[in-house]
Amino acid sequence: MSCTHCPFFYRRPTGRIYIIHQIVENHSTASAPRAETVPFLPYSAETAAQLRDIGRPLAAADRGGGLVLAPGISSSAALIPACPAEHLGDPGFRRTHNLKYAYVGGSMANGISSTQLVEALGRAGMLGFYGAAGQPLEEVEKAIDRVQSPPPFSCGFNLIHSPSEPALETALVDLYLRRGVRLIEASAFIDLTLPLIRFRTSGICRNAAGEIETPNRVIGKISRAEVAARFFSPPEDRFLRELVSRGELTPGQAELASRIPVAEDATAEGDSGGHTDNRPLVNLLPAILALRDRLQERYSYPEALRVGAGGGIATPEAAAAAFIMGAAYIVTGSVNQSCVEAGTSGSVKKILAEAEQADVAMAAAADMFEMGVKVQILKRGTMFAMRANKLYELYRAYNSFEEIPAEMRAVLERDYFRAPLAEIWLGTREYFMRNDPAQAQRAEKDPKHKLALVFRWYLGQASRWPLAGDESRKLDYQVWCGPAMGAFNEWAKGSFLEQPEARDAVTVAQNLLAGAAALTRLHALRCQGIAVDYRLARQEPRTRDQLSRFF
Ligand SMILES: Cc1cc2nc3c(=O)[nH]c(=O)nc-3n(C[C@H](O)[C@H](O)[C@H](O)COP(=O)(O)O)c2cc1C
Repeated sequence: MSCTHCPFFYRRPTGRIYIIHQIVENHSTASAPRAETVPFLPYSAETAAQLRDIGRPLAAADRGGGLVLAPGISSSAALIPACPAEHLGDPGFRRTHNLKYAYVGGSMANGISSTQLVEALGRAGMLGFYGAAGQPLEEVEKAIDRVQSPPPFSCGFNLIHSPSEPALETALVDLYLRRGVRLIEASAFIDLTLPLIRFRTSGICRNAAGEIETPNRVIGKISRAEVAARFFSPPEDRFLRELVSRGELTPGQAELASRIPVAEDATAEGDSGGHTDNRPLVNLLPAILALRDRLQERYSYPEALRVGAGGGIATPEAAAAAFIMGAAYIVTGSVNQSCVEAGTSGSVKKILAEAEQADVAMAAAADMFEMGVKVQILKRGTMFAMRANKLYELYRAYNSFEEIPAEMRAVLERDYFRAPLAEIWLGTREYFMRNDPAQAQRAEKDPKHKLALVFRWYLGQASRWPLAGDESRKLDYQVWCGPAMGAFNEWAKGSFLEQPEARDAVTVAQNLLAGAAALTRLHALRCQGIAVDYRLARQEPRTRDQLSRFF
């Protein structure tokens, strides 16, 4: 018999008595196995239901016939604490943002995280962010009107960094300040910018108790420690000086602003839909938590900094893992796009509901195209990833339309653009003359910039065609999506949640939270040395009605 470190188990059903014997090889003799008895909780439908009844504490008691679960707490083999969904995550996060649950539906561009989605999550005691990126300012303002009148729930708006269109970022912050938006999800930042700091510090003051008060809050979304450090540190001096010189802050306010973090909350985002560094959340989250500890110690902020987790979370198991690792809150995205409230077409929701984990790819991004940034998209049934990456390759290789070999140009005009490139440029120029004339003027002088703007036209349109459900452009659909979508589909298979028509964001969220709570209870049992039948860990989807007594 080979020497192994691994204990192995066997189960011996003896009437109603179930006991596990752990056979551990003794390495010094390698010949005399030692048997230990480990209490074992067997499966029954009743035991599974008891574990999923997350608000009731239980005791695992040996009633002489093996372990059973009994209600309440007694001096027994093991205790299973109640774990209501509202206890998951950081209470400070829930309190600060006036939420019942530490659950966030992340921003999804083009209004995919629609006002309906934001409102549904908000009314359920969770937090949703409106997907302002890619939306005209008038649309964003209409969304503000819809969710703020009256505003009986918490919600926020996205501020996505737009290095190639800085005027847009400024205009969005102007709008948010003018319309009293109090919470933003700040994403895709590398260096922080003046508009972001202006939003955060606007209206800063001391209250009657002498504490610093900031009416505006930022939740930063990051996938790198250096960016997290910028969010968790006070605003840089150069920004504060600039705001003072522009009369946006008084010197006294700037002094107060130098004592607060840009964001009290930052979401560590692992491999997600859309912009992503594809980092595994299990590696990223501990690193950002450790950074948080260091910066909290350095700055001694009165309210401790918090780290949330996003990217890859779409199952109860993933949610439980994130909370157990120390996430203050969890953020979902991909799964919400397949829900009824999402602002995209039924045909996209159908493809998403069929996706498997490997059906995603990285493709050149429209917003940071020239920088070579990529976004994670659904590749199943489309040629978008291949075409977008081809455009980036051509952009790198050539300096103008004219330099692109005629054969390749013909392919672009026939298959990608379905129009002559010169015609696409005319439409693109018109758009920029209206929205950001400096870009159009630069392109007139710089043929490479013209190339970039035209290629970005295709990438931009490719994210509009799926919204409209344009079947003639199905091969060009750019649908941002991460592997979480496939994970959710696998979990939901065979249940009512398999159909996208039955997926609503709150039912999904409640299932993730209730499932995470039940798994946390099971984990507590294991920590006390109780082995459990693997079937007790299953968290099959439940309807809103079935979950109603926990929420
Ligand atoms: C369709 C889609 C669009 C997205 N658009 C944005 C966006 O405009 N701004 C942003 O901060 N995050 C965006 N994200 C990221 C989500 O807010 C969220 O952080 C992420 O999807 C969570 O990871 P997951 O996709 O693995 O659930 C988008 C994600 C998806 C799936």
